Amino acid sequence: MIVTAGSLFAQVQVGIVLPTKDEPRWIQDETRFLSALKTAGVTAEVVFSQGDSAKEKANVETLITKGIKILIICPHDGTAAAAAANAAKKAGVKVISYDRMIRDTASVDYYVTFDSVQVGAAWGNYLVSKASGKGNNLYLYAGAASDNNAFLFFQGAWSVLQPKIADGTFIVRNSSKAVGLSKKSNLTRDEQASIIGQVTTNWNFSDAISKAEANLTSATKEMKGKVYICAPNDGTARSIADTFAKDKDVTMYYITGQDAEIPSVQYIIDGKQSMTVLKDVRTLVSDAIAAAMAYLKGSVPAKTTTYNNGKVEVPAKPTAIITVTKENVKAAIIDSGYYPANTFTGL
Ligand code: BGC
Repeated sequence: MIVTAGSLFAQVQVGIVLPTKDEPRWIQDETRFLSALKTAGVTAEVVFSQGDSAKEKANVETLITKGIKILIICPHDGTAAAAAANAAKKAGVKVISYDRMIRDTASVDYYVTFDSVQVGAAWGNYLVSKASGKGNNLYLYAGAASDNNAFLFFQGAWSVLQPKIADGTFIVRNSSKAVGLSKKSNLTRDEQASIIGQVTTNWNFSDAISKAEANLTSATKEMKGKVYICAPNDGTARSIADTFAKDKDVTMYYITGQDAEIPSVQYIIDGKQSMTVLKDVRTLVSDAIAAAMAYLKGSVPAKTTTYNNGKVEVPAKPTAIITVTKENVKAAIIDSGYYPANTFTGL
């Protein structure tokens, strides 16, 4: 979709590449971009990669031929996207990594992101706040290993959950690797990868269901009852929650999420998902556009920290996150203007 409103320039100045239309999260980013771009005064085009790194690279190449000066890209696969970033860089385009980091290349100029380690810590804090006594059943799930964020989320969750696994508050029921590493607070990337490899959902709803079904099939009755589920985002949380809810030996579950997707906000209102993490996409979009405008004017965007992408330290200005539960859902989601009240029932 091309937005030209208010532009002084004929060509496409800013190319925006998003990973997939198959998840409400990224459709929301497109919608918020289109609305913010109306007043930004730049010409921009938004395209989707549909979970395919080759398509993503072809999208970037097309945008380069259209004359973009700035590329805002959320990679499908953080490492594979280095080739697309390198091609943009070679054409003199500034590269802004959006939400997910592009890894192992010096071609990333700026990173617009939320504090992803805090997202994982929010899951851990929520689950710990609901647990009492010892031996509580914990099921861990993770995002796609090709997404650097999956590691940051996991790191944040582990920082809070690991001491509670080590002291016996929780027993991890679906990852022998997590059990084996439960005495270690700081995991290497390879150690994180070994756990993520066992519990990944690949950010895919049907993979999440299959994994949850397999975990429940191999669990004894004692490993069910009341369960604590660390789910990595709203889409997979709904899939995993529905799967656990169907098991007659699961009497109660707590489950995390993130993104404040509309269906998950409804799940929270209905008591089917325990929490989500609101990552206010309006802020991410406006930070991305502000960075693009800064580059177009020949200056550099504001930074408060840097993130290592395996090759270089990338300047960034991470945005804070908000934990949303049934208790604060109205204030955080409706009263903040994030979604109108009539989007939901039973508020
Ligand atoms: C994003 C999440 C999203 C997930 C799956 C992550 O990189 O930060 O908001 O739910 O990808 O698309």
